Amino acid sequence: MDRRGFLRYTALSAGAMAVGGWALGAACEGFPTLPEPAVRAPLRFGRPMAGRGELVASPGAGIALGDGRVAPAWGYNDEVPGPTIRVRRGELVDIRFRNELEQETTVHWHGMVVPSEMDGHPARPVAPGHEFAYRYEVVQRAGTYWYHAHPHHHAGEQVFRGLAGVLIVEDEEEDALGRPTGDYELPLVLRDARVDRSGALRYASDPTSPRGDFPVINGVPYPEHDVARARYRLRVLNGSNARVFRLALSNGAPMTVIGNDGGLLEVPESVSRVELGPAERVDLLVDFRQYAPGEWIALQCLRSGWDLLEFVEGDGEPVDKPPIPTPLSMIEPLSPTQVRAERTFVFEGHSRINGKRFDPERIDFRVPLGQVERWTFRAEGSAPHPIHVHGTHFQVVSRSGGRGRVFPWERGWKDTVLLLDGEVVDVLVRFGDYRGLYLIHCHRLEHEDGGMMLNFEVV
Ligand code: C2O
Ligand code: CU
Repeated sequence: MDRRGFLRYTALSAGAMAVGGWALGAACEGFPTLPEPAVRAPLRFGRPMAGRGELVASPGAGIALGDGRVAPAWGYNDEVPGPTIRVRRGELVDIRFRNELEQETTVHWHGMVVPSEMDGHPARPVAPGHEFAYRYEVVQRAGTYWYHAHPHHHAGEQVFRGLAGVLIVEDEEEDALGRPTGDYELPLVLRDARVDRSGALRYASDPTSPRGDFPVINGVPYPEHDVARARYRLRVLNGSNARVFRLALSNGAPMTVIGNDGGLLEVPESVSRVELGPAERVDLLVDFRQYAPGEWIALQCLRSGWDLLEFVEGDGEPVDKPPIPTPLSMIEPLSPTQVRAERTFVFEGHSRINGKRFDPERIDFRVPLGQVERWTFRAEGSAPHPIHVHGTHFQVVSRSGGRGRVFPWERGWKDTVLLLDGEVVDVLVRFGDYRGLYLIHCHRLEHEDGGMMLNFEVV
């Protein structure tokens, strides 16, 4: 066994002991259709793209499986994930989108608050061979957002085949913090996938067992990444159709949560794990200064037992940076005393909210612009249900049943919140920017496609 293999071996056994049942968890997942390779492929990143330019959805992309085979995929600008779009608050985004797929699609800017006609609503499809110019102003805070396909009935398949990418918003408040940038900032799109014997992606739209069986990070199955002895910012997106990740470092070291769906938290929070449902983001600082050159650390998922991403520590002197200041940002708290209306949403089975299935022609409720409301989300079977609201961000105020608490990574502004079985989550929400048609839905994409989605109008 070489040095790396030895370090890996000891880290694995330590990890297995630290979290009992870890290896067992892995066994429960069944045999992956793509096993972990002896040598991991290097991580890569979406090509940088500005807020102006051309975005093309086409079947011209691929996922290299690491054994010489390439699984054909659908990509934006031939990439999986698509380009990493970076914009600044106040900027005008102007992206000419072209659909070169053989089916309708739309581009939804998840977490971005945009006018309803720019939101990628499934009622505004872009037909095969057609173009649409997505134009909007970046009105919200710095943070990690994303974009993905959102057509009627086919969001699950299109995202599974690769149509997703990261969108980063920057602003002055965040610049002032001196957080890690450049090579020290890692946008990470975590997802799972599944292939058939020929190495082609195998998509099953079944809402009961839609999960993949091996990890793909930034389009690379089982990657590794060389890190310097420095502090890194991991901008993590769960880009899976249905899988919930429980993220932790293999050595159990703490990670510092500095942000989530809607940007920076008020204060950094130290955690040893983060539970991340589909479409949720978490912004983590990980300190690699304390490890020895050549040491191996993995970002693991404790639910699946996967080593999602292996970090290999570089040599050289630790890079010293000033500590992250506290508070990180100011967050206006929405207060229960401001609440003017209450609504309850019951997520039932695989396809219904309050007994209804999505009908693109029907407007299910209306919300006055600028009004604070309390929305209660309740899971009635078939969870996890990651609940997403378009056109705003909300604040999670309570969770009862199930896990019974609000977690540190759920503070601040969220656009998606995870509901497990038996859970009731209350959020305070306000639509402050635009009137028009928006959506609330389960972001488990097979549930969304099955109809677990409602239209509402901000009036
Ligand atoms: Cu990311 Cu309506 O979704
Ligand atoms: Cu659901």
